[in-house]
Amino acid sequence: MTFSHQIKIAPSILSADFADFGREIQAIEAQGADWVHVDVMDGHFVPNLTFGPPAVAAFRKHVKTVMDVHLMIAPVDPYIEAFASAGADIITAHVEAGPHIHRTLQAIRATGKKAGVALNPGTPADSVAHLLDLTDLVCVMTVNPGFGGQSFIDMTAKVRALRSMIGDRPIHIEIDGGVTPQTAPLVAAAGADVLVAGSAVFKGGSVANPAPYGANIRAIREAAERATGAQLA
Ligand code: DX5
Ligand code: ZN
Repeated sequence: MTFSHQIKIAPSILSADFADFGREIQAIEAQGADWVHVDVMDGHFVPNLTFGPPAVAAFRKHVKTVMDVHLMIAPVDPYIEAFASAGADIITAHVEAGPHIHRTLQAIRATGKKAGVALNPGTPADSVAHLLDLTDLVCVMTVNPGFGGQSFIDMTAKVRALRSMIGDRPIHIEIDGGVTPQTAPLVAAAGADVLVAGSAVFKGGSVANPAPYGANIRAIREAAERATGAQLA
């Protein structure tokens, strides 16, 4: 995984067909996904339940790009080793998940994986100021975590603050929640480079008819790249 600021689209398989994850992952990658985003929820930190380490290990067999595992669980630390062994490339934990996010990021890095830190909409950019040396990715939630298909909450001011705080460090800014071709330009212009999208990627398509996945991914990417001026470069 070499670092780049280019826009990356990370479909969330929370919006995939839950009876057919292997083929759904293959379909989104064939249709242009850069990363595969896996939303782990525990029914405690967030009011919904999704996948544990054995499911994530099963997804790994199909992911050829980057498996981006977003842990919406508390506590986090007892499960880091299991998600690392399951084959995550990036493990992201929430700053709100416990009192010792610094230790959590150290523990993620100790497994050899990339470490991400996620911020709920109500959490300020400053909460990661003393964590940047331990961080490969900051995930800015643009919905309250727990469900796909919610509407975008404008966090562009937070993204801008993070971009200037990060400076030239090799740290991704990821946006998660309500990303569409309409909202992507706002966050891309503010400095985000990884766009997670669930409903906006999977809508209109299926394993049997994957072309809409490709069109949806392209629409988000092109809108974001237009906003950063990348297509002119
Ligand atoms: C929300 C999850 C998101 C979600 C995004 O808790 O972290 O990854 O699946 O879904 P959309 O793009 O539908 O908002
Ligand atoms: Zn997520």
